[in-house]
Amino acid sequence: MTTTLLRGGTVVTATGRSAADVLVDGERIAAVLAPGSTLLGHDLAASVDRVVDATGKYVVPGGVDAHTHMELPFGGTAASDTFETGTRAAAWGGTTTIIDFAVQRAGERVQDGLAAWHAKAAGRCAVDYAFHQIVGGVDDDALKAMETLVDEGITSYKLFMAYPGVFHSDDAQILRAMQKAAELGLLTMMHAENGPAIDVLAAQLVEQGRTAPYFHGVARAWQLEEEATHRAIMLADVTQAPLYVVHVSAKQAVQQLAWARDAGRNVFGETCPQYLYLSLEEQLGAPGFEGAKWVCSTPLRSRAEGHQDHMWQALRTNDLQMVSTDHCPFCMKGQKELGLGDFRAIPNGIGSVEHRMDLMYQGVVTGEITLERWVEITSTTPARMFGLYGRKGVVAPGADADLVVYDPAGHTSIGVGATHHMSMDHSAWEGFEVDGHVDVVLSRGEVLVDADGYHGRPGHGRYLRRDLSQYLV
Ligand code: URP
Ligand code: ZN
Ligand code: ZN
Ligand code: ZN
Repeated sequence: MTTTLLRGGTVVTATGRSAADVLVDGERIAAVLAPGSTLLGHDLAASVDRVVDATGKYVVPGGVDAHTHMELPFGGTAASDTFETGTRAAAWGGTTTIIDFAVQRAGERVQDGLAAWHAKAAGRCAVDYAFHQIVGGVDDDALKAMETLVDEGITSYKLFMAYPGVFHSDDAQILRAMQKAAELGLLTMMHAENGPAIDVLAAQLVEQGRTAPYFHGVARAWQLEEEATHRAIMLADVTQAPLYVVHVSAKQAVQQLAWARDAGRNVFGETCPQYLYLSLEEQLGAPGFEGAKWVCSTPLRSRAEGHQDHMWQALRTNDLQMVSTDHCPFCMKGQKELGLGDFRAIPNGIGSVEHRMDLMYQGVVTGEITLERWVEITSTTPARMFGLYGRKGVVAPGADADLVVYDPAGHTSIGVGATHHMSMDHSAWEGFEVDGHVDVVLSRGEVLVDADGYHGRPGHGRYLRRDLSQYLV
């Protein structure tokens, strides 16, 4: 058992900050101590195996990214990060837990989809991982199989109002799945966009010769996110199922969530870095086919309409509770290129798993959120929402020693190059110069990243069985 002392830093949690040393014994945090504490008169630093100097730096709980899609078969290809490359990139960026989505499609068994996801991830992950279950074909068998999820350590599942013919559920299917979820205590995660309406608009645009990536954003109008969000809220209300809306990008969708929460409904929402920083005009509207890099769903929204500012506001007011990446990377070459001449064939997704902690820290730098809120929306709330809190999401005795030493005086240049570890031939964040730097990353007491580089390994990461959400009553 290795003992480690993180000395001289400022420990930041969702509820406060204090100068403290953190003692790690094996895989867990043993103590959070007054700076310079001794043990029975002995200098602690002299008694441990390893000392990490955190002077002038923050010591925060490792990031929990509750929305990733490693190796997702999607859009005629598969997401370009494997569990091995994607979790390595996560580690580099200070994320020590991911929750990925096992997939069941219409006609398939939920159990088989889950087994396939375990087979992809087992022995390959650099950080700990858990699963949500996509139920892409709601039928009697799938509803029955949902009864086994909690025993598998899976306490949330995702439905899609988007992507007809792929993952889409109609209202009848959603209602039945939510009834089952309410019975079991599962959290329903919803991709809230009106897919059938989007497909009609998209086909009309293509017929008019509007085939560029920009029109992906035009077809996926904010009204169709607002409408679907409202419908999801009401279907959840009728069934008494708690609801979590994923990748929220439209301010009107946030207004729906705020309205539902104000009325006391058990409704939550996440957004993603791309909806805070990037826009329809600047990125999706880039010249030629360049905008394909930023084709994702829900789409990037118009800056002129003010969606991005509204997302920041909602993070402050807790109308949105957390930030996940929806990491779903595709290379331009051979993948995004599938949609040259027809935006509908561009695989949907952006890769950000490596950058979420840094990108969200910029909100602290610019004064959009506090340091504590940064920790809360990137680690503590995802841990609580998805049944990992106590083990993850907090710096406290007994918690897993998943720790990040973050240097506020550091600097990170994002882009493909030496500092890029995701399996992509481009970065959606090329040219972003951000304040702050992930200096040291520990996962269950093992150093994954430090000044001399990467020490992680495939297979260090363990499958996490999750408890029911602490947010649900
Ligand atoms: O564009 C996206 N979001 N791709 C991943 C699949 C999903 O809808 O989350
Ligand atoms: Zn989705
Ligand atoms: Zn997703
Ligand atoms: Zn080292």
